[in-house]
Amino acid sequence: MPEEAYIEEIAQYEGQEVTLKGWLYHKTDKGRLQFLLVRDGTGVIQCVVLEKDVPGQVFEAAKSLTQESSLIVTGTARADERAPGGYELTVKEIEVVQLAQEYPITPKEHGVTFLMDHRHLWLRSSRQHAILRVRAEVIRAVRDYFDENGFLLVDTPILTPAACEGTSTLFETDYFGDTAYLAQSGQLYSEASIMAFGKVYCFGPTFRAEKSKTRRHLLEFWMVEPEMAYADLDEGMRVAEEFVSYIVERALTRRKPELKTLKRDTASLEKVKPPFPRISYDKAVEILHQEGLEFEWGDDFGSPHETALAKHFEKPLFVHRFPTLCKAFYMEPDPDRPELSLSVDCLAPEGYGEIIGGGQRTASLEILEKRIEEHNLPREAFEWYLDLRRYGSVPHSGFGLGIERTVAWICGLEHIRETIPFPRMLHRLYP
Ligand code: 4AD
Ligand code: MG
Repeated sequence: MPEEAYIEEIAQYEGQEVTLKGWLYHKTDKGRLQFLLVRDGTGVIQCVVLEKDVPGQVFEAAKSLTQESSLIVTGTARADERAPGGYELTVKEIEVVQLAQEYPITPKEHGVTFLMDHRHLWLRSSRQHAILRVRAEVIRAVRDYFDENGFLLVDTPILTPAACEGTSTLFETDYFGDTAYLAQSGQLYSEASIMAFGKVYCFGPTFRAEKSKTRRHLLEFWMVEPEMAYADLDEGMRVAEEFVSYIVERALTRRKPELKTLKRDTASLEKVKPPFPRISYDKAVEILHQEGLEFEWGDDFGSPHETALAKHFEKPLFVHRFPTLCKAFYMEPDPDRPELSLSVDCLAPEGYGEIIGGGQRTASLEILEKRIEEHNLPREAFEWYLDLRRYGSVPHSGFGLGIERTVAWICGLEHIRETIPFPRMLHRLYP
């Protein structure tokens, strides 16, 4: 019996007979010669079927195969420089598992709506395959970084009684007569966790009812959020730049073939190493005005502003100390200028926009009580959070990194929708 193998490890089987289980990606019919491009999830390999070398029914089976038919193919692995992956299979046997019906996605161009309606099938294409493998690597790197650097994973709830990031993007659901909201962020709970564990992170899906269609917003996205007790804004930025550099480096070393498939020019990614440049919000506004962009001090940046700022720098850029009024309620005021908050955004280079938001949280019970009132937040729902300032309050900082925006940047994608297997966007809940 020939050994079963995966395409990605085919080099180990050079000259041997192996069995591969997969799907037909593409077929070229050259009469007595059939070229089958077979994929198995780990890679793609060209399988060559020669009429004179195989039994009649094997050749007939090869000829009958339609795009995306599932098959088990046995043959001899041979190194061949001209073959797509450097190897090809000289076929001896084929078992057709299922002859696929006419496949809707063909090598010709399809519109985005069509592809999104067929997302469950679109995942099989080489580009989507590459993107989602980069995503998985980014997620693995995220976990490795925090696990190896003294952060404890402490999970946070998804059904919550109150808003973390403003009340305008809440998803509401009935909770046996009460109202629950899908978590916009795990941060507030991580603040409780650090008082028990020191350094923690949470990582999971987060939800925002974003009512506008943009290239950078999803309604459901994955965010990783580290939180650290006894850390200030500067320490937060130091961790963030080390962390982002670690992720990029991992994608560059472990997902080279995928980045190549995506035609990503990796030169700019190679430059992502600490330290990252840091500018204040005031300075950023100055730059925007020099560029002739319309922007009022006090507003939050939109995509065009982020792009305009980032283009002055080769690495990701930290913009810190935003006006208190344009940020969430929990920010620590700047002791030198109380109208500013100790907040920070990290903007990816090349116009990919904000990938991180974070800062130092206020340690003061009085300030927090005042902000909850100013933001019209229901105080009862935040009593537990206020407790954190009553019992051993300490300076603390943290941030959140959006996985999809990070993957869009690393892969060089124009739109965030391809960075998650099944995107949830305005008017898109299917499939
Ligand atoms: O800046 P945000 O809103 O910060 C927070 O949620 C903080 N509570 C995080 C913290 O300090 N623990 O979101 C953080 C990041 C953004 O920089 C962006 O990368 C991503 O989450 N993000 C989104 N990604 C996709 N679609 C959306 N609608 C997103 N909203 C935020
Ligand atoms: Mg933000």
